[in-house]
Amino acid sequence: MSTQPRAKRITVPQLVARKSGEPIVVLTAYTAPMAGFLDSHVDILLVGDSLGMVVYGFDSTLPVTLDMMIAHGGAVVRGSSHACIIVDMPFASYQESPAQAYRNAARVLAETGASGVKLEGGVEMADTIAFLVARSIPVMGHVGLQPQSFNAMGGYRIQGRDERGASAVLRDARAVAEAGAFSIVIEGTAEPVARQIAHAVHVPTIGIGASVACDGQVLVTEDMLGLFAAFKPSFVKRYAELGREVEAAVESYAREVRARRFPGPEHTFSAPTSTASDSKPTR
Ligand code: KIV
Repeated sequence: MSTQPRAKRITVPQLVARKSGEPIVVLTAYTAPMAGFLDSHVDILLVGDSLGMVVYGFDSTLPVTLDMMIAHGGAVVRGSSHACIIVDMPFASYQESPAQAYRNAARVLAETGASGVKLEGGVEMADTIAFLVARSIPVMGHVGLQPQSFNAMGGYRIQGRDERGASAVLRDARAVAEAGAFSIVIEGTAEPVARQIAHAVHVPTIGIGASVACDGQVLVTEDMLGLFAAFKPSFVKRYAELGREVEAAVESYAREVRARRFPGPEHTFSAPTSTASDSKPTR
């Protein structure tokens, strides 16, 4: 048995205590290897239902299922040891009733080992959030632009740009905070409203396209690394162009295979004796 102390993950109460303090760093992750790269640099790894578009190639998040979220959530938990892991509840897995939400959120926590779930919605989801929180399921809220409601919203529209819209987003954030959410993602929302919400609620706000006024920031990792080419929202900053590097590497590989320059002698097994290096695992 290992004598190494187990690394401790960041907890939900530790995140709540960061309100108005050191900004909270959040990125999405869907797989164990990517979680491993990000883990020590972030506070939260969000297994977002954006995986429907980024990993599965759907044109919205609506086709994502609970089983997909559980499979990817488990992989991210296994690939990390430091960040707090939050898993998105997918479309139609929680909107029907608090009991449906509890049944599915409990599966997410039990089957992945994550610390909490995120769900979209404002005033209309407050009872559900309160129901989950009262039964020991930490909930991250999500207000402003809600991708699961793009049909009802008439597209992916920036929220809070007029007075009516601004008070609706503020009302939603207040309801979600009062229901007991430990943190609230504010997506695609005009800066003055995001700033007002950050002051109005007692829990950390995490912005995505919602200005620096939030208590933390989240981006889709593939967006900020240049790995998702389908489109780039204007609020995304590209910190790398890994997609281009992948293409350059694959081009070199294809050229070398076609010219019979790969595999070289160093990648080739000699016959017939079995040496120490031959018996190493092949991966
Ligand atoms: O699904 C997701 O990745 C998200 C973030 C963009 C906040 O909800």
